[in-house]
Amino acid sequence: MHPILNVALKAARRAGQIINRASLDIGQLKVNVKQQSDYVTEVDRAAEIAIIEMIRETYPTHGILAEESGATGSESEYQWIIDPLDGTTNFIHGFPQYAVSIGVAHKGVMAHAVVYDPNRNELFSASKGAGAFLNDKRIRVSKRAKLAEALIGTGFPYRVFDHVDTYISIFRDLTQKTSGLRRPGAASLDLAYVACGRLDGFWEFGLSPWDTAAGSLLITEAGGLVGDLAGEQNYLVTGNVVAGSPKIFSQLLQTITPHLNARLKA
Ligand code: IPD
Ligand code: CA
Ligand code: CA
Repeated sequence: MHPILNVALKAARRAGQIINRASLDIGQLKVNVKQQSDYVTEVDRAAEIAIIEMIRETYPTHGILAEESGATGSESEYQWIIDPLDGTTNFIHGFPQYAVSIGVAHKGVMAHAVVYDPNRNELFSASKGAGAFLNDKRIRVSKRAKLAEALIGTGFPYRVFDHVDTYISIFRDLTQKTSGLRRPGAASLDLAYVACGRLDGFWEFGLSPWDTAAGSLLITEAGGLVGDLAGEQNYLVTGNVVAGSPKIFSQLLQTITPHLNARLKA
């Protein structure tokens, strides 16, 4: 295993311990509202501090982009992209679907990825060129070829409503053309589920880089495709993501594209 991936795994497990311990007493949680429908708890912050401390012990000069503390070390070739608790709204409610997401980019290209689900003790990991794994088993995207048979994950707009009408028209179309849509509530884990074939595809608008950095590498290393709304690779910048096995990816994109307006094309 690559030494960087090893540090990422340890950091994700450490954050998972902090999250699991706190989940035993969610009544005690102090919740702060960052903006409407955007929450942060002391658990998000404690998990992020623990992850960054572990990275700094081994890689003190690497760059870091973390949801709660922002960006440092931009001169480094490496950038760690961290969501210490993806699915905070679920966590606050005791709804057991959330994850720790850690991606590492090298010279702007995703090189290592970990998404850790502390509820199920499921650790998804990948290094570029070395495949994707769930715990110790190799994972691959699903073989399902028809959109009509596909189970598709998504995230509803819940904070920014600029594109809600477009979203709903896509939703209306896809709910009729697929075998089901799911909104589990932690984008990094949704992408990990595409990587291991539990979902055949996924789409969401307006995500942040820490939601998608790790999950996107899991999918490509598992034989799937990830793109923005133009089918290009700009999703870490635009935040708009379409993903799936190669066959489902292209059918998803074909279904979504006719609904897009000029402001929503990449
Ligand atoms: C959120 C989750 C959710 C997605 C949101 C994200 P957070 O992350 O991934 O599934 O729909 O767009 O912001 O705020 O819980 O880390
Ligand atoms: Ca997130
Ligand atoms: Ca988060």
